[in-house]
Amino acid sequence: MSRTSPYRSGLTIEDPRVSQRVQGFPESVIREMTRIAALHGAVNLAQGFPDFDPPPELLEAAKRAVDHGGNQYSITWGDPGLRAAISRKAREFNGIESDPEQNLVVTCGATEAMMASMLSLIDPGDEAVIFEPFYENYGPDARVSGATPRHVRLEWPDWHLDEEALKSAFNEKTKVLILNTPNNPTGKVFTQAELKLLADLCTDHDVVAVTDEIYEHMVYDGGRHISVATLGSMAERTVTINGLSKTYSATGWRVGWAIAPSTLATAIRRAHDFLTVCAPHAFQLAGVAALAMPPSYYDELRRSYQAKRDRLVTALRAAGIDCRPPGGTYYVMTDFSAFPFADDWAFAMHLIQSCQIATVPGSSFYADPRSGRKQVRFVFCKRETTLDDAIARLGRWEQGRDHSWPT
Ligand SMILES: Cc1ncc(COP(=O)(O)O)c(C=O)c1O
Repeated sequence: MSRTSPYRSGLTIEDPRVSQRVQGFPESVIREMTRIAALHGAVNLAQGFPDFDPPPELLEAAKRAVDHGGNQYSITWGDPGLRAAISRKAREFNGIESDPEQNLVVTCGATEAMMASMLSLIDPGDEAVIFEPFYENYGPDARVSGATPRHVRLEWPDWHLDEEALKSAFNEKTKVLILNTPNNPTGKVFTQAELKLLADLCTDHDVVAVTDEIYEHMVYDGGRHISVATLGSMAERTVTINGLSKTYSATGWRVGWAIAPSTLATAIRRAHDFLTVCAPHAFQLAGVAALAMPPSYYDELRRSYQAKRDRLVTALRAAGIDCRPPGGTYYVMTDFSAFPFADDWAFAMHLIQSCQIATVPGSSFYADPRSGRKQVRFVFCKRETTLDDAIARLGRWEQGRDHSWPT
C-alpha cells in the first residue's frame, strides 16, 4: 500500500535547494485527481467544485465590477462594502457580531484565511488539534506555520467524536483547535453538545478555535448550522472562516474571509498583506451582490443538494459501495471493503479506468496513509446531467464488475 499514485514522482523533490518545509507534504491529492480525471475523460466526482456557474445576477455583478473600477488593489484587508456585507450576514445568519473596521479580513479564499490565521497564531512548538479525517489543506497549513498537529479521530461510519480522545489531545502546548463544520470529507455536522465540549476545552486551555464554516448552507434533513463563536464567550477566542466559493458556486473567484477578535484580526491582516496584498477586487465587489441573495436562494441550494445527495447515495449503495447520507457538505465518504482492492489508490484508479469516475483516495484525508485505505470520497456538486451520467456508469460497472476485478 502506498500513498503514491501512479502519476506522481514521490514526496521528496530531489533538489537540495528546496526547503524542508515543502518537502513535508505532497501535491494536493484532490487537485491531482482532477488532472488524472481529465487524462482519462472521467466524470470528475473528485474535487469539490460545481460544474455549473454562479447565479446569473452574480455573473452580472462581476461584469459590472470589472467595468466600474474593480480593477486595482482594494484596501488590503478588504473592500469596505464587502466587509459591511459580511458583517451583516454573519449577524443575521450566524449570530456573530463583528465590526467591519476591527474584526474582518477579506482573503484569497478560505484557503488563505486558514493559512494566514495559522501563520499569525502559531509559534514553533505550538500544537494544533485537528479532527481526522481532515480537509487535506490542514496538514500543509500546520506544517508551513510550524504547528505540531494532534489528530483526533472521527470514526467511521457515523464519524462520532470520542470525548476522552479529544480531552487528551489538549495540553499546555495546545494553541489552536481547527474545526470544520459541516465537515469535509465526512459530511459530519457537529452537534451543539459537541461544540459545547470543544468550546469548554478551548476556554479551559486558553486555546483559539479556528473554524472553517464554508459549507454552512449545506446542512440537510432539517439540521442546523451552529457557529462555535456564538457559544458562551467563544467570540473572544474564535476565528470564523468562510467564503464565496461553495455557497455561491464561485470557487474560481477566490474570495474568502476571517472574522476574529480585533487583536487577532490585526495579526491576520499582517500575514495576509504580505502573502497576497488583497483578494481580487472585482470579485469582492460581486461578493456584495452574493451576500445580498434572498433567503429563498439558500433554501433552494440546500434542497437541490439534498436531492443530489440522495441520488448519489442510493446509486453507491446499489453498486455495493457502503456509505451513509452525509448530514452536510457536498461529499460522500464511502467504504469499499466489500471489493477485493488492495487499497484506496487501487480502487480509485480502477474506478477511473473501468468506470470513468474520478474520486479521491481516502488516505489523503489522514495523517497516516495506512488509515483511509478502504475509503474513497465522492462529490455531488454537479449538474443533474453529470450525475445521471455518473450514476449510469456506476450501474453498468455494478452489472459487469467481476470481469475487471483484480485477482
Ligand atoms: C473545508 C474546506 N475549506 C476550504 C476550502 C477552499 O475554500 P476556498 O475556495 O474559499 O479557498 C475547501 C474546498 O474544498 C474546503 O473543503
